[in-house]
Amino acid sequence: MKVVRTAAELDQEVANQRKNGQTIGFVPTMGALHVGHISLVNKCLTDGCYTVCSIFVNPTQFNDKNDLKNYPRMPEQDLALLEERGVHLVFMPSVEEMYPETDTRTFDFGSIDKVMEGAKRPGHFNGVAQVVSKLFTMVQPDKAYFGEKDFQQVAIINAMVKQHGFKVEIVRCPIVRDTDGLALSSRNMLLNAQQRKSAPTIYRALSDAKLLGTSTSIEEIKEKVMAQVNADSELEVEYFDVVDADSLQSLTSWEESNNIFGCIAVKVGAIRLIDNIRLK
Ligand code: PAJ
Repeated sequence: MKVVRTAAELDQEVANQRKNGQTIGFVPTMGALHVGHISLVNKCLTDGCYTVCSIFVNPTQFNDKNDLKNYPRMPEQDLALLEERGVHLVFMPSVEEMYPETDTRTFDFGSIDKVMEGAKRPGHFNGVAQVVSKLFTMVQPDKAYFGEKDFQQVAIINAMVKQHGFKVEIVRCPIVRDTDGLALSSRNMLLNAQQRKSAPTIYRALSDAKLLGTSTSIEEIKEKVMAQVNADSELEVEYFDVVDADSLQSLTSWEESNNIFGCIAVKVGAIRLIDNIRLK
């Protein structure tokens, strides 16, 4: 496994592989890797790609300075994990390498970046689009792998690819969960013991909502999920929205779409967790 820190070295490595006829697969991450990230890497490798993984905690997507400061960083452990999986190339740039000058670009993806995470974390998706567009330009991958844990992020990336004409296939990968149902997240390691014990209630509430199914009204499902999560004093729902999978717009009736997801954000002390489930 090769580790490079500059765009020039990255370009050289990837260009060589492309010349050899390799399909370039790309897994962007912010590190503090867990089995969720590794599932993306595994998919990329089993697809037969020359697998490039980036580790970069992107400052422009953090709307909360403390969240950026506290974001877990463990580069050595990450590299060991990636090496063990058989990743070919790791790109670990500095902030100066990614942003030699301030990125002033603003992206507009219409209605999909205005709801849910877009509404609660101003500037977040603009920062994601800034860094992912830079990474796509640097790596020029044939395929790029994203997890459905960040449901809205995948929609934003797909919109960006369309809008800016990137020649990359976006591969969506299912959510990987802990044995108690909690969606794996780098932020889980910031939870204290009591918070960690409470956090699986989020997925339990989503699963119960799915069990109730479309014979229960969306309004009632929303009330039930919020009540179930908020009943735990460690948890506070920021939003729970029932949305169309493509437009991400809120629905009031099950008849409005055939592909409906429930998306939730929950505050656990100072930590924010997100999750989602397909409801129809
Ligand atoms: P990060 O949170 O490190 O996640 C990297 C990728 O791993 C994302 O595509 C995310 O959806 C996926 N992932 C995280 N947890 C997962 C889980 N439990 N199951 C499946 N996939 C999971 O998302 C980002 O970084 C950044 O926004 C990034 C795209 C790298 C841009 O900075």
